Amino acid sequence: MARVFVTRQLPGPAVDRLSAVHEVEVWPERLPPSAEEFAAGAADASGLLTLLTEKVDAALLEKCPQLRAIANYAVGYDNIDLAATAARGIPVGNTPDVLTDATADLTFALLLAAARKLPDAIDAVRTGDWVTWEPGQYLGAAVFGATLGIIGFGRIGRAVARRASGFEMTVMHTGAARHSAPGLRAVSGSQSLQTLLERSDFVSIHCPLTPETYHLIDSGALARMKRSAILINTARGPIIDQSALRDALMTGEIAGAALDVTDPEPLAPDDPLFDAPNLIVAPHIGSATRAAREQMAELAVDNLLAGLEGRPMPHQVAVPD
Ligand code: DGY
Repeated sequence: MARVFVTRQLPGPAVDRLSAVHEVEVWPERLPPSAEEFAAGAADASGLLTLLTEKVDAALLEKCPQLRAIANYAVGYDNIDLAATAARGIPVGNTPDVLTDATADLTFALLLAAARKLPDAIDAVRTGDWVTWEPGQYLGAAVFGATLGIIGFGRIGRAVARRASGFEMTVMHTGAARHSAPGLRAVSGSQSLQTLLERSDFVSIHCPLTPETYHLIDSGALARMKRSAILINTARGPIIDQSALRDALMTGEIAGAALDVTDPEPLAPDDPLFDAPNLIVAPHIGSATRAAREQMAELAVDNLLAGLEGRPMPHQVAVPD
């Protein structure tokens, strides 16, 4: 029996399987443990089940001499320093696949909401600002037949492209050339991202956060986009330079943005980004269907059980060279 620290209560029964064979402590609060509380809970743990709010780095690992396995409750793992875990021989697991469709659905919900100015239009009904059917009010952008640029063509990017085909959109993406078909075009070479940004009516981000993708969408990238374009991000907040995004929205350099992720999370209510027009911000709910969140818990528990037994995790993250 090993000691396991689970850093939040998870939906569904998965953690019961862990408690049946290990001594499990679940962080009981709504807010994540502070860095100190996390270190205290992890100090004598053999296994950690972490969320994207927990930072696992060399300093934390120093304080956890018994640690043998980490399961991250997310497909993304930018909160974990993989070089540091690899140096200690600690396997790290993630939760791919089960949240792909939920995240792709939310991406499309944001795309449609931003295109059709839904939040403002709905607010107008409630506040009495809507007084009659008006030919020129709440005019949005057409989605059907438009061009969608997808940055990052992994599982979620491809699932978004499948949804786009139902809207007969032309899809450009930064993935491999083999993912090309009528209406689906890989842009390649050094100019690929630029071409995608210049030609897309909607640009949706689906790449992981890495040192290479940090602020990938900066003022230069935003300047390349059409003035009528809408930017959607359901990946990680720091991929966009938010201050550049604010400027681009304020000056009308792009027409709108819909973000499920920000930097930091949550944004303070007085964050300058909220001054920008045509902006939707959701509270990182890409994977938030009951089914997806329960399956993520099952996968995280499967990963941790395997790691603690010294078996390969079903979804073990590969350590980059
Ligand atoms: C992930 O899995 O990386 C999402 O951001 C949260 O579900």
